[in-house]
Amino acid sequence: MPHGLAGVIALFAGFWGLFVNWWAFTEMLLGLIPLVLILTGLVAIVAGVKMVRKEEKTSKKGGSWLARISQVPLAKSNGTSSNGFQNYKVVAKTKETHNVSSFYLKPENGHPLAPFLPGQYLTFQLNVPGQNKPVVRCYSLSNGNKNLEHYRVTIKREPAPGSNGDIPPGIGSNYFHDHLNEGDIITAKPPKGNFHLDMESTSPLVLIAGGVGMTPMFSMLESVNSEELEREVWFFMGVRNQDEYIMKEQLQNLARQNKNIHLKVFFSKPGIGDFKGKDFDFAERISVKRLKKILPSNKYDYYICAPSQMIDEVRKDLEKWKVPKNQIHYESFGQATVKKATQPKPIPGQPSVQINFSRSNKTFAWKDSYDSILDLAEDNGIEIESGCRTGSCGSCEMACTSGSVIYLDEPDFEPKEGKCLACVSIPNENLTLDA
Ligand SMILES: Cc1cc2nc3c(=O)[nH]c(=O)nc-3n(C[C@H](O)[C@H](O)[C@H](O)COP(=O)(O)OP(=O)(O)OC[C@H]3O[C@@H](n4cnc5c(N)ncnc54)[C@H](O)[C@@H]3O)c2cc1C
Ligand code: FES
Repeated sequence: MPHGLAGVIALFAGFWGLFVNWWAFTEMLLGLIPLVLILTGLVAIVAGVKMVRKEEKTSKKGGSWLARISQVPLAKSNGTSSNGFQNYKVVAKTKETHNVSSFYLKPENGHPLAPFLPGQYLTFQLNVPGQNKPVVRCYSLSNGNKNLEHYRVTIKREPAPGSNGDIPPGIGSNYFHDHLNEGDIITAKPPKGNFHLDMESTSPLVLIAGGVGMTPMFSMLESVNSEELEREVWFFMGVRNQDEYIMKEQLQNLARQNKNIHLKVFFSKPGIGDFKGKDFDFAERISVKRLKKILPSNKYDYYICAPSQMIDEVRKDLEKWKVPKNQIHYESFGQATVKKATQPKPIPGQPSVQINFSRSNKTFAWKDSYDSILDLAEDNGIEIESGCRTGSCGSCEMACTSGSVIYLDEPDFEPKEGKCLACVSIPNENLTLDA
């Protein structure tokens, strides 16, 4: 028992003994016994006071359990490191198709999950064996944002293109599939991203997904479905065939249960066992030509997540159909490592280009081994905010106060005048950046 508690009990016993025995003494009921008990009470009071004081002293030194609990620094107790990353535990892993699995995550420290908007993603930092630095990859949250018990990400394994073995398979996705299992710990930044639904609005929606681009759409559908408000949603999903159709049952159930959700499935190459009307609706690619025949009008907010080529086609045709640009939202998953192959080679004999980070007051020479300005900055300890690393989210946008950049991939996010995206650009000449 802690000293403090014993002291308080002794104090009470002492005062009680004093009171009862003083009364007995004044009544001369029991001779000397009350006198002895009065003295014992006084001793107990003195001992109690000493014990309480001792307790106070130990608390100040941080030695007792009470002190230890109250001294946990609250600012650091959410388990987030200074660079914004936090540990998550894989609480379940489920196979969706032969090459797609879902990973269910909860904060390792048991704290509540940060809220998110449907369409946003997590940025993971992966310690992949054989890689000389952490591999950063983004994966969209694929579950609804109401009654959050876990985050879910649904990941397609990226194989090596071709079979000659020159090019390795996807680093991040294969790490998830081959190395991460229930109980493992993984590091990620809290949800973010500009491609998300406006949950305050009730405007009708058209969601268009190509391949694994359907993951943020699941989140959007589940989130809208669990809102009290009725919101019309059309979900156009394009995959090759049944083998790529993930979460078929959940989608069909949602569409059956909610009269406002309309599901239209497009198979571009149906398999022998795939049946029209049961497994899919159209044996073709998604096109605006088909949308025009299905939708009652063009008056929707459009959200597209698909390979870049499909996004470009659909966007152009939606604009031709007089859909205002600000009602077309899109995100392409891109591929973080492919950019390197298209980087221009340096011209021999030319002095290397210098990049000055004005806020950090540091200058570095550009080397063609860097994938991007972001890569150079990270390698040299310059902190730049980043998310998708494929020119989609705008997190790495920064002022370029002198010089210009070359984009290796045309970014989906349009940087403002005088600004550039560090994740998909390399210097065109000497540069000064506000970082
Ligand atoms: C905002 C956002 C959200 C995303 N959400 C999801 C999601 O929900 N689910 C999902 O599965 N993915 C998602 N992605 C994609 C994901 O982040 C990864 O890009 C994807 O998993 C591939 O990463 P990887 O490390 O496996 O492959 P990488 O190592 O990046 O390689 C990609 C492909 O390129 C090939 N390759 C490698 N080097 C070369 C080279 N030199 N030349 C040619 N080819 C090469 C690889 O073999 C592989 O096929 C998202 C991306 C973004 C930006
Ligand atoms: S990190 Fe997303 S645009 Fe650069």
